[in-house]
Amino acid sequence: MPLIRVRRAGVVPAAVLRQRLTPDERARLDRAAPADRDAVASVLLLARRAVAEACRVEPDAVRVRRRCPRCGSAAHGVPVADRADGGPVPHVSLSRGGDLVVVALCDAGPVGVDVEPVRPIGDDLARVVLAPGEPPAAGSHGLLRTWSRTEAVLKAAGTGLAVDPRALRVSDAAGRPAVRVVDPGAAAALTPAPGTRWWLTDVDAGADHIAALAALLPQDASSTLDDSSSPLA
Ligand SMILES: CC(C)(COP(=O)(O)OP(=O)(O)OC[C@H]1O[C@@H](n2cnc3c(N)ncnc32)[C@H](O)[C@@H]1OP(=O)(O)O)[C@@H](O)C(=O)NCCC(=O)NCCS
Repeated sequence: MPLIRVRRAGVVPAAVLRQRLTPDERARLDRAAPADRDAVASVLLLARRAVAEACRVEPDAVRVRRRCPRCGSAAHGVPVADRADGGPVPHVSLSRGGDLVVVALCDAGPVGVDVEPVRPIGDDLARVVLAPGEPPAAGSHGLLRTWSRTEAVLKAAGTGLAVDPRALRVSDAAGRPAVRVVDPGAAAALTPAPGTRWWLTDVDAGADHIAALAALLPQDASSTLDDSSSPLA
């Protein structure tokens, strides 16, 4: 049965975490905008620790690099895990939002996670994210939740915002999580391969954040979600 792990942590100052980062991670941290550095350091550490936990190895026996499916760059794009011993690794996704960082891992297929700080949202977001006729996600902060679901799906697809968010619906008529590709132009990028299907859920991230999780899973498999807080300090 596919296992999806979610690990959440509050952002910790980069100065506190720096010693625990690898040289590659410190170089990445130094390239980040100063305002982002605490969250960047936090997610770098959380991601490596979560992959190590999933692989049952020490954190210094794994690394999480980046690979851009569009341009091939190793400086940005989809996070990809490696193990020093060459053993199997899960698919990885990560997100920084407000004072929270989240990492998702899946052993059965690509995964995407997104976290957004709760904030006032204008009508502009509706025009950017809602597909024609799509209702906002049910519950409080529906548009923000729609945005988070959409980013989670687009990350699992590996496209990010290179695909127009209005190409897909992420809520059914009742506002529950459900993925439907509505723009034929995006079908090649977003339609699951034969034998696989979209899986999408909201994630409880507390009162101040909205989060969502998407994965491409084998058609008939039901999944297990292991979601926990994993403080860094
Ligand atoms: C991915 C994206 C949706 C991130 O949104 P965000 O809400 O600002 O930021 P988040 O913190 O939630 O997520 C950032 C993480 O998404 C991941 N990510 C970036 N591109 C991704 C992609 N195409 N697919 C999946 N995950 C991706 C990275 O791990 C990134 O973290 P990092 O900066 O530490 O490497 C957005 O930045 C995007 O669409 N980027 C890709 C744009 C693109 O294709 N550019 C082409 C360059 S050649």
